[in-house]
Amino acid sequence: MIRLEGVEKSFDGGHAALAGVDLDIAAGEIFGIIGRSGAGKSTLVRLLNGLERPSAGRVLVDGIDVATLRAEPLRALRRRIGMIFQNFGLLSSRTAAGNVALPLRIAGASSADIAAKVPALLDRVGLADHGGRYPAQLSGGQKQRVGIARALATGPDMLLCDEATSALDPETTRSILALIADLNRDLGLTILLITHEMDVVRQVCDRVAVLHTGRIVESGHVADLFLDPQAPETHALLAEAGEDTDAADPGFAGTILRFTLEGGATWEPVLTRIARETGVDFAILGGRIGRFKTARYGQFTLGLTGGDTEAAIAALRRHGRVAA
Ligand SMILES: Nc1ncnc2c1ncn2[C@@H]1O[C@H](COP(=O)(O)OP(=O)(O)OP(=O)(O)O)[C@@H](O)[C@H]1O
Ligand SMILES: [Mg+2]
Repeated sequence: MIRLEGVEKSFDGGHAALAGVDLDIAAGEIFGIIGRSGAGKSTLVRLLNGLERPSAGRVLVDGIDVATLRAEPLRALRRRIGMIFQNFGLLSSRTAAGNVALPLRIAGASSADIAAKVPALLDRVGLADHGGRYPAQLSGGQKQRVGIARALATGPDMLLCDEATSALDPETTRSILALIADLNRDLGLTILLITHEMDVVRQVCDRVAVLHTGRIVESGHVADLFLDPQAPETHALLAEAGEDTDAADPGFAGTILRFTLEGGATWEPVLTRIARETGVDFAILGGRIGRFKTARYGQFTLGLTGGDTEAAIAALRRHGRVAA
């Protein structure tokens, strides 16, 4: 659905905001792009909806080279791309219903069509009773719901979310992410989520790419990237988000390893059973239990002493992943 081939983007006189990005996003997936401020995330979004043109490389949306489009086909493409922003981008002089109606008016919809569609769109985002309120009378989460209803107005098949939850508290963030996941499931929307928050990726994304100073340093399925990060930039982002990516204790006298469980195995008393069978004692030096989307995982740094260490490691491998 979305493909970037060797995309570079430099602004006049400045360094490259994007320095050779290749990316493939399939129809119907929720794809996250994570990176620090200035990494080039918003620039990438602006290339997708044709607000900017690449200095080199190609940006393809559903097979269409965006940079080659003239005004009318570009407008047609933009109707297929819903945009959601951090600061919501609502017009303060219009009610929630008026904001949602705007893209329909611009697309030339009839008043009857608008009158029929707007309440359904507001209902879709859980704001059926708020159509008459002005943005100043809405909470941040409600404003973002209006922003999402507006993005859905032209019947898009993809949503680009640029820091859509960055202005919201954790609980409101969760509710907006749940809405985005529902839209992905119910409408089959392809969703690109740009964020600097690892937790956002963990909660809704299928795959993720790490963008660092204009380059993708790592990409893959969310569980693989979180549980076995390769790039130092990914390690750093995870560590800041409170993930322990390197919990080895140099003072521990014994065998130290990382043990990762996924799915149903996280509910089983794996360690005590192996301890009993092999005589090995386990010290838990670090770790956590969490979720990706709905899948549970546990990852621990273990210190092994005594007993039959080889047998214990073989048994650990039968239940999960083991890394030195
Ligand atoms: N119109 C522009 N003219 C000149 N430089 C720009 C322009 N837009 C972006 N840049 C530069 O390109 C780089 C990437 O900016 P971009 O907005 O894509 O980063 P970002 O990853 O979205 O950051 P943030 O997380 O802060 O939103 C920055 O160095 C920025 O200053
Ligand atoms: Mg940005």
